[in-house]
Amino acid sequence: MSLSLEIETPRLVLRQWLAADRKPFAAMNTDAGVTRYLLPMSAAQSDALADRLAAGIDEYGWGFWAVEAPGVAPFIGFVGIKALAPTLPFAPGVEIGWRLATRYWGNGYVTEAGKRLLQYGHDDLGLRDIYAFAVHDNIRSTAVMRRLGMQYLQGQDFDHPNVPDTHPHLKRHVLFHSTGDIRPTATKQHD
Ligand SMILES: CC(C)(COP(=O)(O)OP(=O)(O)OC[C@H]1O[C@@H](n2cnc3c(N)ncnc32)[C@H](O)[C@@H]1OP(=O)(O)O)[C@@H](O)C(=O)NCCC(=O)NCCS
Repeated sequence: MSLSLEIETPRLVLRQWLAADRKPFAAMNTDAGVTRYLLPMSAAQSDALADRLAAGIDEYGWGFWAVEAPGVAPFIGFVGIKALAPTLPFAPGVEIGWRLATRYWGNGYVTEAGKRLLQYGHDDLGLRDIYAFAVHDNIRSTAVMRRLGMQYLQGQDFDHPNVPDTHPHLKRHVLFHSTGDIRPTATKQHD
């Protein structure tokens, strides 16, 4: 039996994936707004992704969790931290990532979850480095990284090795980084 951790924030519950999440997840994965900076995905590929993310949480206790917004909707997307794909030039390590259905954008949900996850990763899991990356002009995603206080790693833009040449616009990525050493609590000691 798996131990599946849930993380709560003031407005959200990050939880293990449920069968009922598959339909809204597949719907968001074919929404043009959501997929603008992502590779196209069929409903079957969306289900397979949900299964892989759930299996990762089962195995490690943490990963890309399904997000519930109590009183708003039982499933609004995913947010989490997980091991980097080994093909990435800065692997091994851990990334923070997110995807919400468009109707839930603009509420600060991802920033709220991301703050808690950086704290969880650095303080509870003892991770020194947490990375985030996005297609270079995915401004909404890089805005979240900046709001979380993550640093843009200048000179480390990269071509994502898993993006085929048939999608040239989705290849170039920017890389951001959060270091446990420079958390606001550490800075306070110098005030
Ligand atoms: C990237 C993505 C998750 C960002 O979503 P988002 O809603 O913009 O981000 P947040 O949840 O942090 O919300 C921030 C917005 O809420 C507003 N906001 C409202 N209340 C807020 C609060 N309490 N705290 C912070 N921001 C708040 C902010 O002003 C900001 O609004 P703006 O868009 O007008 O600047 C979303 O665009 C998405 O799912 N995109 C498609 C998938 C994708 O590209 N994923 C990333 C791949 S790298």
